[in-house]
Amino acid sequence: MEALINLAYLAASAMFIVALKRLSSPRTARSGNLLGAAGMALGIVATLLDRSIVRFEWIVLGVLLGSALGAVMALRVRMTAMPQMVALLNGFGGAASALVATAEIERLLLHHGLSQASGVLIGTIHASVIIGSVTFTGSVIAFAKLQELLTGRPIVLPLHQLWNALLTAAAVGLTILALVQQHSWAEPTLTGLFYAVLVLSALLGIMLVIPIGGADMPVVISFLNSLSGLAAASTGFVLHNYLLIIAGTLVGASGFILTNIMCVAMNRTLPNVLFGAFGAEVTAGTATDRVVRSTTPEDAAVILGYARSVIVVPGYGMAVAQAQHAVKKLATLLQQRGVDVKFAIHPVAGRMPGHMNVLLAEADVPYELLYDMEQINPEFEHTDVALVVGANDVVNPAARKDPSSPLYGMPILNVDYARTVIVLKRSMNPGFAGVENELFYQPNTYMLFGDARRSLEAIAEALKSV
Ligand code: TAP
Repeated sequence: MEALINLAYLAASAMFIVALKRLSSPRTARSGNLLGAAGMALGIVATLLDRSIVRFEWIVLGVLLGSALGAVMALRVRMTAMPQMVALLNGFGGAASALVATAEIERLLLHHGLSQASGVLIGTIHASVIIGSVTFTGSVIAFAKLQELLTGRPIVLPLHQLWNALLTAAAVGLTILALVQQHSWAEPTLTGLFYAVLVLSALLGIMLVIPIGGADMPVVISFLNSLSGLAAASTGFVLHNYLLIIAGTLVGASGFILTNIMCVAMNRTLPNVLFGAFGAEVTAGTATDRVVRSTTPEDAAVILGYARSVIVVPGYGMAVAQAQHAVKKLATLLQQRGVDVKFAIHPVAGRMPGHMNVLLAEADVPYELLYDMEQINPEFEHTDVALVVGANDVVNPAARKDPSSPLYGMPILNVDYARTVIVLKRSMNPGFAGVENELFYQPNTYMLFGDARRSLEAIAEALKSV
């Protein structure tokens, strides 16, 4: 039976690896997702065959309750609320690891006592509880910030980083103490150390995430995702479960790679995101003396209708307005007129990795029309119209030109090089980074103020009579 279980674990691990590979392209992502879910189902079934399970009632109850909750959440969640949902799921992963570690401590107490356990086991239990608790409370704070239950602005206490350093040192220090004194201190003292580490780590998770601005949350969530993987892997060592070790390591590594991709795309370092309190100051809306050219849907329709080439640049505003179907409709109308239409995707457009890809896929925009930043940037200078749909920071030329800008150095889509730029947004308000956008004052830029979906529908309507 054990060989069979390990074989199933091996198959599930292979399915996870292939699933990750398939998830890296929109074309294969759906089947990748299914394959990952199938691997998880296989893993669960194999674990249930384990003979060390004494009673199934609680497990069945947990599976039923968890599946029902998961299905309802997946069906009801809005696309714009996906980052919060991922934050919660990470948190659950962290909490599960901390709970398993706690259960293992209680099991050891019931059987031979903590002093009889190996140092390696006590060490891994403590590692599970530290990483799991930090992940749990950190993810709950990230969720609360994104759900606007807490302010999105950084909350910074006096000597904040010093408190964080002290909490980390205390959690690690008590773990070392538990290991050193394992054979000399009484069981209740050792157990007390474990619970003290649990509380300190939970506090550390809160303290680590509250000083981070709401808009940096996707990076934090991805980082916490990576931590939840590490917590699971360390729980795998506690339980001697190979699948948990492999799956946890895969989550840990892929979460970290994603975190790094986001940091590079924003030209920030991870320490800057985690400790920089980005977003505390808003530096927007100072220049009122410059000219802004606003336009109407009718004029925009004429400009677009007579263009040879159009590059659509979607951003967070497209997600807010749920304008993906309207944008697809307009693109199709333009193509029918012989206009060459492409979509430019910035790696951190929107509020989560792949945000724009997911929305455009939902509206059936063909993948062939989607271009990455590196592919499309050389094309802007030969393009008639760049149509910016609710994007702001990712098209801000200050990132190239203004060394004093917080965005300086961030790779952007060079829409300002296009012959004409049409920007769809509701106001002159800044985007996530809170910085003003030079692009809106350029002589070749026309602002079409209003909700992006309504503006696109009005342009499509007006296009019929162009
Ligand atoms: P933003 O810079 O946040 O700008 C979005 C713009 O959409 C706003 O200026 C807003 O202007 C407009 N908007 C909002 N609702 C709208 C509606 N209903 N209709 C039309 N426009 C609307 O977005 P972006 O250019 O996509 O850049 C993303 C930002 O998020 C970057 O700074 C990036 O670093 C950050 N970020 C992204 C990620 C990931 S993974 N995507 C992770 C962390 C941080 P109005 O209010 O005037 O309408």
